[in-house]
Amino acid sequence: MEKSNQTLTLIKPYAVEHGYVGPILARINKAGFRITALKYLHLSLEQAEAFYEIHRGKNFFERLTRFMASGPIVVAILEKENAVEDYRKLIGATDPRKAGEGTLRKLFGASVVSNAVHGSDSDQNAIRECNFFFSSLERF
Ligand code: CMP
Repeated sequence: MEKSNQTLTLIKPYAVEHGYVGPILARINKAGFRITALKYLHLSLEQAEAFYEIHRGKNFFERLTRFMASGPIVVAILEKENAVEDYRKLIGATDPRKAGEGTLRKLFGASVVSNAVHGSDSDQNAIRECNFFFSSLERF
């Protein structure tokens, strides 16, 4: 499969509530990503469950989806060569305690669930996730 140059990020409720949207977007820009779509929204529980469908059945599914529906989030499409892989390097490990110095999850995350940001984990999921949140009219 040809490598996609796009990935999807979510800035999660904890990071939005703590005022980290600006600092996170600034770091994303500085790392060379172009923001081609951007919006705030507050997911319903059903929408959070649909987005995280691939995790349904896992022991953290309910905790994760309740948290993601607990407050507003920021959603963005990021464009760069090798976007999925490079963005996962920028965000660091799922658990902020294990994330490398300078990564977004280390800098702005509180826990495995409240880990500041989401990033697509494959090109295939990036395409699905970008289409989940944005129509063609909302992408620039
Ligand atoms: P995210 O990148 O949004 O994709 C799936 C999310 O599930 C992940 O970040 C974490 O927030 C959450 N997650 C993954 N593993 C666990 C776990 N063991 N316990 C709680 N939440 C988890």
